[in-house]
Amino acid sequence: MAESFDGDWLSLREPHDAAARAEPLARLLAQRLATARPHLLDLGAGTGSLTRWLAHYIRKPQSWTLADADAELMARAFDEMQEAAWAVGWAATWPGRKALLVHAPAGAWRIEGVLVDLRRAPEGLPLDKVQAVTCSALCDLVSEAWLDRLAEALARHRLPFYAALNVTGRERFTPPHPADALVARGFARDQRRDKGFGGMALGAAAPAAIARAFAARGYAIHRAPSPWAIHRRDGEMAGALAEGHAEAALRWEKRDWRRVLDWRDARRDQAAAGRLAAHVGHEDVLCLPR
Ligand SMILES: C[S@@+](CC[C@H](N)C(=O)[O-])C[C@H]1O[C@@H](n2cnc3c(N)ncnc32)[C@H](O)[C@@H]1O
Repeated sequence: MAESFDGDWLSLREPHDAAARAEPLARLLAQRLATARPHLLDLGAGTGSLTRWLAHYIRKPQSWTLADADAELMARAFDEMQEAAWAVGWAATWPGRKALLVHAPAGAWRIEGVLVDLRRAPEGLPLDKVQAVTCSALCDLVSEAWLDRLAEALARHRLPFYAALNVTGRERFTPPHPADALVARGFARDQRRDKGFGGMALGAAAPAAIARAFAARGYAIHRAPSPWAIHRRDGEMAGALAEGHAEAALRWEKRDWRRVLDWRDARRDQAAAGRLAAHVGHEDVLCLPR
């Protein structure tokens, strides 16, 4: 079964993701999309957060295919896409019911969805119909072998690959807590858990693995930091982040689990009181065929 993600968590992180992604790489990708109406494929699209952000940089008509295994997240992606359009006064229509058309001033965005299990990728992906493949917060879930297979398929089609928000493992909660290292160790271990993509998940090794896989196939690699800076005023996000860390650490911590629970309770209180901040390292990677 595909690893499942909570739609509310994806919505909560969306503004932080948007603030974190490295704009220069988005602009560089947009410049490379030379066709009049480029078509992009967003892998593990979730609630469509990356599409909603990146589409603004491609200042012309464009098509998107959102690919995900989770039908609920996919339905939510289209609801949120419509709401985001209405919020800025743009029309969003369903001509023919197959795709959503967002009438952006610089040219319409045509958005369709495909329910697909990415574990079998590139099988089931419309690589011959698109001009770029994107993803956000996906590559830390996959294995090195999966990434290699994807890179091979994309290289065959000479397609750019843009992978945003890959964790780097460099993270810090503030104020410090005596169990920080214990929780961080369990969390990092959980990130390497097999998520069904054919082996150990890349976790914090993802940015280097992406660069390696595509450089080996002659791509030019662009990397840029895209950390989350979670401020004390972002109590809900800081609290949810800490809950996720504790839950992951508890999966592995058989001996010191009480210390993890104490850490979680302390972090809950701090988040509720507006006293918890966090810095989470990410890196965006853009791979361009030469
Ligand atoms: C961390 S979420 C990122 C979602 C979105 N890209 C974002 O940045 O908000 C990972 C996404 O990958 C999807 N996913 C995980 N395993 C999958 C699989 N085997 N096949 C298809 N999608 C999968 C999940 O459903 C989820 O939407």
